[in-house]
Amino acid sequence: MDKPAYPPAPDAPLLIFDSGVGGLSVLDAVRKALPDAPVIYAADTAGLPYGSKSEAEIAARVAGLLGRMAERYQPRLACIACNTASTIALGMVRDVLHIPIVGTVPAIKPAAALTQTGVIGLIGTEATIRQAYVDNLEAEFARGKTLLRLAAPDLVAAAEAKLRGEPVDMAAIEEAAENLRMMASGNTIDTLVLACTHFPLLSEELAQVFGPDVRQVDGAAGIARHIAHLTQGQDFARSRPDRAVFTGADGIEALRPALAARGINEIVVL
Ligand code: DGL
Repeated sequence: MDKPAYPPAPDAPLLIFDSGVGGLSVLDAVRKALPDAPVIYAADTAGLPYGSKSEAEIAARVAGLLGRMAERYQPRLACIACNTASTIALGMVRDVLHIPIVGTVPAIKPAAALTQTGVIGLIGTEATIRQAYVDNLEAEFARGKTLLRLAAPDLVAAAEAKLRGEPVDMAAIEEAAENLRMMASGNTIDTLVLACTHFPLLSEELAQVFGPDVRQVDGAAGIARHIAHLTQGQDFARSRPDRAVFTGADGIEALRPALAARGINEIVVL
């Protein structure tokens, strides 16, 4: 890929990428911080869910897709709004793309600063919770705390359903809460890391099940601040409406209202 123009053209978009709707939780925070920024919301809907895939498959999909999308849409910056993809492929993507890449990693650092009981729950995908990246964050920022990790893939499906206007599977959330509480010290969790970008989309349902005393922590606001910092001084002006770009057409029509609520009225299928 050629070196991009600097400073970027005012209509150069921010590319926000996830496997599905999860990255919309990051888009919400980016919209608050940078309301004038042109955005392309990209989701590998044909590859969803990432959480049950191997590291090799995720890395190949993410690097390949972001490469193609960067060529095609010339974004000024790409945000991997997915913990699974970031904890596996962030380094590789940074090596191949010549634009700033902002990743999403489990918010263990802020959670460790907030916990009073010293017991932190972390829910993410199967792939995320087994990453060395997470071990390293735990060793660096949560020394002396207890971090209880749980794979909660059914909550990815619940968030996808919610954004399509379907009922949320509360039993899946109750099961996740129960599985965490059953772990040693699990009943003293006071801080819950939402280590999957789909999960903040279920924050009300999570609060209902976990109760008001368990604080939910995710990285969206921090990511938005980081993007604002990296694009400081740049001009933003839309020359066309914001778009969503999906790799598969299945089930995307039902997402139109959730996308429209976020200022995205055009869907492109790659
Ligand atoms: N939203 C993604 C994350 O943050 C994962 C969803 C999936 O399994 O594809 O990890």
